[in-house]
Amino acid sequence: MVSLHGKDLLGIRELTKEEIAGILDHAEEMRKIVVSGDKAQNQTLRGKSVQILFYENSTRTRTSFELAAKYLGASSANIAAAASSVAKGETLIDTGRNIAAMGTDAIVMRHPSSGAPWLLAKNVPCPVLNAGDGLNEHPTQALLDMLTIRRCKGGFEGLKVAIVGDILHSRVARSDLWALQKLGAKVTFCGLRTLLPRDIEQVGNLEVTQDVREALEGADVVIALRIQLERQAAGLFPSFGEYARVSGLNPKNIRLAKKDVIVMHPGPVNRGVELSSALMDSGVSQITGQVTNGASVRMAVLDLLINHREGR
Ligand code: CP
Repeated sequence: MVSLHGKDLLGIRELTKEEIAGILDHAEEMRKIVVSGDKAQNQTLRGKSVQILFYENSTRTRTSFELAAKYLGASSANIAAAASSVAKGETLIDTGRNIAAMGTDAIVMRHPSSGAPWLLAKNVPCPVLNAGDGLNEHPTQALLDMLTIRRCKGGFEGLKVAIVGDILHSRVARSDLWALQKLGAKVTFCGLRTLLPRDIEQVGNLEVTQDVREALEGADVVIALRIQLERQAAGLFPSFGEYARVSGLNPKNIRLAKKDVIVMHPGPVNRGVELSSALMDSGVSQITGQVTNGASVRMAVLDLLINHREGR
């Protein structure tokens, strides 16, 4: 079993290729539990405590971390920032220290500010797992995406992966890019000019295009990203209808990709905007499988960080 070199899981950038592969191997074992009729068959975290601290909304990440902890026998508590003493002005560091002082073995945190998990990790003795920080990273999303790709394609070397949508605001795009580059895939970022980071062309070993047809041509894997409704007020594209017409994925344009292409999306999906309903509900979509793999990956990283990290 792989031993992770750090106390925390903060970003994919910090992980080696071997650590990523080792997490995926362990997640594959955990997946057998997720799809089985006996979720309590491995109680490796019995007697441990996992606290889940979210400063932003979530369905998939928060629930799957909570279930992951419970499936492995840990006790877990959800702390919604809006209903906690954060709303009375308590700082992130003080909040983290108080949570750690309850005998906590790991803190899972989502925060709107890029870098917040690094600040928390420096100030608490237990592992911190980044569940998404600002525009920066979403490492467990990338790991579940890698597990989904590996299960469908058998590996990464030479795969063409097109990541399409709101790249500018996407922490998933960043984490997926680091993971795919380390694992040997070829990545294309595709988005409208206003949805691409400035100077993105400077990033090495990355294709960039504004033309969806060019991105889809010959792709093995297509990852669509959520168009962030909350950004629409900034006028980054004319309308959702226009976006769907120019950049949306549908059964017609996906034919430009390889015959055995898979389509993924981190969720939540705006049906009919970044993906047509017909494509989302078709056999090429792996979106539900991604969610199953998410629970598996989160079980794996909780077990590795609490029970198996180097020097613990
Ligand atoms: N993919 C993802 O992070 O979804 P949630 O916001 O529902 O957790």
